[in-house]
Amino acid sequence: MEEKTNVLEVRDLSVSYTVANVKTHVLEGVSFDVEKGKSVGIVGESGCGKTTTLRTILNVLPSNGTIESGEILYEGENILEMPKARLQEYRQKGAGMIFQDPSSALNPVISIKNQFLEALKYAHKDKKLTKTELLEKAAKSLETVSLADPDRILNSYPFQLSGGMRQRVCIAMTMAAQRQLLLADEPGTALDVTIQDQILRLIKSLVESGELSVVMVTHSLGVIRQVTTSVNIMYAGTIVEGGETKQVFENPQHPYTQALMDCLPKLTGSGIAKGIPGRIPDYSNPPKGCRFAPRCPYADEKCRNEKPVRHEISAEHWVACFQAEEGK
Ligand SMILES: Nc1ncnc2c1ncn2[C@@H]1O[C@H](COP(=O)(O)OP(=O)(O)OP(=O)(O)O)[C@@H](O)[C@H]1O
Ligand SMILES: [Mg+2]
Repeated sequence: MEEKTNVLEVRDLSVSYTVANVKTHVLEGVSFDVEKGKSVGIVGESGCGKTTTLRTILNVLPSNGTIESGEILYEGENILEMPKARLQEYRQKGAGMIFQDPSSALNPVISIKNQFLEALKYAHKDKKLTKTELLEKAAKSLETVSLADPDRILNSYPFQLSGGMRQRVCIAMTMAAQRQLLLADEPGTALDVTIQDQILRLIKSLVESGELSVVMVTHSLGVIRQVTTSVNIMYAGTIVEGGETKQVFENPQHPYTQALMDCLPKLTGSGIAKGIPGRIPDYSNPPKGCRFAPRCPYADEKCRNEKPVRHEISAEHWVACFQAEEGK
């Protein structure tokens, strides 16, 4: 059997935000792995902590965010303990992020050309490439993301490009800098469907060619099914079920996952409300036991008081739910 290598391991991650002296406990005990050359999804409704998870992986939480506990291992090394220079190297060579809001990813006052040069300079430092060689690499990678006129793009500033172009520029930079891990936060959802589809297909083909590992964050189960090999179902800052995408879709175990599947294909803020009454709990005072218990039709005393632990359904599928565990 081929040996699995994990490019990323997120271990028991808890993250809070503090606003006006009130602490909100957003992520709680989040754990998942990303195998090299695979695409892993995180899906859940608005506000469940998807962007927070990705930002923590890049170690770029906003200043009011605190990592309470946990580890993020990139090729075995905890990025939360990396010295500054090493962390910078990790962001330049290791992981890159496509932000949910494409305008926040690029520096508005620097030309695309100079942003590429900056990104590539570090990645190819050892090879001592000339500026012309670096720009050739940039142009090539712009072509791979279907931006047909690389020279024009390189000579533009971000505001001269459309949102879809900017996202594709970000993907191209990540690729040209030969980063191993792409953190994609709702790629393309702010854009029109054809461009979203193009971006998803591009990401999928890069993963399939073995060049890239991806963490894909989305509201959409359709996107998860299309792009990922394994999936994590997130509810209110916790991962309630996970495993091989196919198995989770065919045999959802957690009442929340089942409800998600019932409101296919796309969830907006209120999407799930149709399936299950109530909404995400108040993070400043989260439920003591299972975070889903207040909305769960099957919850009992144990669910309200104890944290569910992971229970294996098969080698590639687990659920954190007392009720599913007991086969109810
Ligand atoms: N800088 C911040 N300060 C305080 N609270 C924050 C901050 N950023 C996020 N939050 C809160 O943390 C929770 C999770 O937010 P996050 O952006 O991670 O959710 P999300 O799953 O990405 O949602 P969406 O699908 O809408 O993008 C929300 O309740 C949000 O209000
Ligand atoms: Mg988000």
